Amino acid sequence: MKKITALMLSSAMMLSLAACGGSASTDAVSSEAASSEAVSSEAATSEAGAEAAELTTVNAGKLTMSTNAEFPPYETTTDSGELEGIDIDVAAAVAEKLGLELQVDDMDFDAALLAAQNGKSDMVMAGVTVTDERLKVMDFSDTYAEGIQSIIVKEDSPIASPDDLADKMIGTQRGTTGYIYCSDDFGDDHVTPYDSGLTAVQALVNGQVDAVVIDNAPAKEFVKANPGLKILDTAYAQEDYAIGVAKGNTELLNAINGALEELEADGTLQAIVGKYITAE
Ligand code: ARG
Repeated sequence: MKKITALMLSSAMMLSLAACGGSASTDAVSSEAASSEAVSSEAATSEAGAEAAELTTVNAGKLTMSTNAEFPPYETTTDSGELEGIDIDVAAAVAEKLGLELQVDDMDFDAALLAAQNGKSDMVMAGVTVTDERLKVMDFSDTYAEGIQSIIVKEDSPIASPDDLADKMIGTQRGTTGYIYCSDDFGDDHVTPYDSGLTAVQALVNGQVDAVVIDNAPAKEFVKANPGLKILDTAYAQEDYAIGVAKGNTELLNAINGALEELEADGTLQAIVGKYITAE
């Protein structure tokens, strides 16, 4: 599929997931941030923190992130209602660098994108793929991870490659690149959008769709939790994940990129990924 090369964006910040190890020390972040007394002296000593001193954010003293916490291991809601995952930990580390307190707002995926575009949140972090279409309506940070659109099918499915998806019914999460690529390639009539990746996978288990196209890391988690499914070896598309902010919010974007650069240089990014994704 031509999408595979079309979506390969170059990035200095690409992390090799396989090279990661160790554990991160970032504390879990609750979705209800309380105090606005956020400027820690430790954070202010970092370059990114110093730059961020005059940052104007949606809620003063806070870095407000919109997300869709139904996308393990990037963001999920634990049984006790806590939000956790790679994006939550990376966002907390970025917020700390900027001397801000992280506030996470959980919503539908398409709403999370819109919140950042419309300045209702400072940033969207939700395993968001950088695409040309999205670049028209929002700005993106440097890449902090890479994703692959994978195809999940039942173990006994005749579908063996992306080409076999033609004339089949494909389940995806609404508003995602999985939906966009599949409807472009196979037509709207062949793609059913679901509220979450998990509901799409449940539709596959129940025989309502023939395949699910979704990012590889959540695909692995869903397949682990639902016996009788498998992920095809052939990827559907290769992607870069980045943090999205409102178009033209250069100040925040530069601050985020500065923080990401520091977190990559000191190994924090790699440690966070390694905490959630174990090398095979
Ligand atoms: N990477 C895909 C996209 O950007 C899917 C992201 C879905 N993320 C989520 N938190 N549900 O469209």
